[in-house]
Amino acid sequence: MEKIFKNQFTGMDYIQLIQPYGEANKNISTRLDTLILDYKLTYHSEPIHHIQSRIKTKESIQDKLIRKKIQVTVDNIKNELNDIAGIRVICYFIQNIYAIVEILKKQSDLIVIKECNYINEPKPNGYRSYHIVFGVPVYYVNGKEYFPVEVQFRTMAMDLWASMEHQMCYKKNLLNSERNNEFRQYAQQLKMLEEEIEDRYGE
Ligand code: GTP
Ligand code: MG
Repeated sequence: MEKIFKNQFTGMDYIQLIQPYGEANKNISTRLDTLILDYKLTYHSEPIHHIQSRIKTKESIQDKLIRKKIQVTVDNIKNELNDIAGIRVICYFIQNIYAIVEILKKQSDLIVIKECNYINEPKPNGYRSYHIVFGVPVYYVNGKEYFPVEVQFRTMAMDLWASMEHQMCYKKNLLNSERNNEFRQYAQQLKMLEEEIEDRYGE
């Protein structure tokens, strides 16, 4: 079954598919680098601790479509997945996240495809983060096409929780309610801790 799903998507298809997503990823990274520099000049502060970016692997693309019971073809991949290009922005404070998101939203050549505020409304397991999918224009010799880049904004506390939870629980489909309860509690504790630090030291 998996073979039938997979064998229409070759290594060469993958290389061709991801090329413009790589360009879109670089485009957003450059905008963020520019903002970091200008933030320093304008506000004498640093909103971003670090940035990670990645392109989804061939395996991971295939697995996600198979999980969705959709045939793995280039068209289906482009239509179904918003997270082939992904950037994670780790900020110091929650207020930094909202500030950077607002600045990017004002950049008139970007479009907002999807937005999820898991800071205001955490997932039931405790996951917090601000997800926004930007459509980024990629220019060809004959016109342009928008490619999605999923940008995840987190504070360091949110990233600590998500990285640990990803390693221990996420997508592993393990039903371990004790561990899940523990992670819900860690999420609460980290939230309280970072709110206390932000109240004292945030701008
Ligand atoms: P995915 O199929 O996992 O990409 O989810 P989605 O397309 O429904 O989008 P969603 O906004 O729920 O999650 C997108 C991404 O956020 C995931 O690929 C993870 O990187 C991250 N994420 C979402 N939920 C969790 C979670 O409960 N734990 C962790 N560690 N990461 C999460
Ligand atoms: Mg994903």
